[in-house]
Amino acid sequence: MRQKLLSEGANELTYEIREIVKKARLLEDEGVSIIWENIGDPVNKHNQIPGWMKEIVQELVGENDSYGYCDSKGVPETREFLAQINNEIGGAQITPEDILFFNGLGDAISTVYHLLEPTARVIGPSPAYSTHSSAEAAHANHHPITYTLDPENNWYPDVDDLYNKVKYNPNIVGILIINPDNPTGMVYPREILDRIMEIAKEFNLFLISDEIYHRITYNGAEACALAEVIDDVPGIAMRGISKELPWPGSRCGWMEYYNRDSDEEFSRLCKALDDAKMIEVCSTTLPQKAIPKILGDPRYAEYRDQLNQEIGKRSEFIADTLHAVPELTFNKTYGAFYNTIVFKEGTLTPDQHLEIDNPKVQALVDEWTQDVSLDSRFVYYLLAATGICVVPISSFCSDLYGFRITLLEEDEELFQHTFTTMRDAIRTYLDS
Ligand SMILES: Cc1ncc(COP(=O)(O)O)c(C=O)c1O
Repeated sequence: MRQKLLSEGANELTYEIREIVKKARLLEDEGVSIIWENIGDPVNKHNQIPGWMKEIVQELVGENDSYGYCDSKGVPETREFLAQINNEIGGAQITPEDILFFNGLGDAISTVYHLLEPTARVIGPSPAYSTHSSAEAAHANHHPITYTLDPENNWYPDVDDLYNKVKYNPNIVGILIINPDNPTGMVYPREILDRIMEIAKEFNLFLISDEIYHRITYNGAEACALAEVIDDVPGIAMRGISKELPWPGSRCGWMEYYNRDSDEEFSRLCKALDDAKMIEVCSTTLPQKAIPKILGDPRYAEYRDQLNQEIGKRSEFIADTLHAVPELTFNKTYGAFYNTIVFKEGTLTPDQHLEIDNPKVQALVDEWTQDVSLDSRFVYYLLAATGICVVPISSFCSDLYGFRITLLEEDEELFQHTFTTMRDAIRTYLDS
């Protein structure tokens, strides 16, 4: 090539949640049966989409215009419906023009950071959901800038750490919140969100709030939406149907712009987002048409409550099972469907292991565990010895050692087997 092709930022595009699948597939070839705990796809974990929802989609499949392009910003009736839902909570008010649809929230995330000046940085949580941190870092040609989520304080954002990072780094123009959070499963109290808004006001920043899990809360928690706390700060809420319905294969998510006209630069960003989608024509039509019909159906709230209760029950079982391991820092979860479990400092060492009978599998593990973080080493042993596929937390922009699990398995027996096997394997590994 006459010129270097790749930007430095391209090195930031890593996604261990999918990367680990390649290793698991190699183990499958050696006869290891894999339990997929790496990805938040409820359908993959035996969730059955209810008949009434399928009927709504079937009916839409019969309509001719479901096959066409829709408006660039998205189906007008759906944006009208969603604006109304937002406005009813009584916070920041929006019109359908403040809503922009994407092909999944992943598309929204990569587009928003891509449009920012490389020197304009958005600080995000650590541990980080890598779709945000990688896309932000790739745009900046630099590593992500993060504030700490504190496992010793329910995984809540360390607001002092956030304040100091913002204060001493004038390149920071925005703050990302994920609430309820992936990967920690935590739901943030209003006081914390209010303090984050104060920081945004003091330093003239905008907010991004990823609320894809907004309706997935349990154990008595409810999530506070950005629109409720944002006051006059400019911000973007990100929503979607991948997790809630769940319909991850629909590739359908959207942004809501709050206080769009309160700041000229922010207003230009919103316009650029709209323009970028126009160049692409539009996002997926059929799932957008389904949104008002499904979310507006009287059966929806009850259905979601039921699923939430089941996730809550699973969270209790996992807490009871893994709490028993004193080397782990464990927080009970309240939202989304993940938990991040941390090994206490000094408990992991480079010579721990699990028994593996198959020499070919052992050879693979030996290869993978050369020169890796101590939590990746644990994760690869767990995968090879038990088939349980989790994700190391050091791959979520974190200095901590631990792993992320999901709370999704709907096959009760398999679910209980997974977490008791995991507990026993952790014990054996730590004692080895
Ligand atoms: C916090 C968060 N945001 C966005 C996404 C991406 O969702 P989508 O399927 O709409 O691209 C995910 C998926 O796991 C997520 O956890």
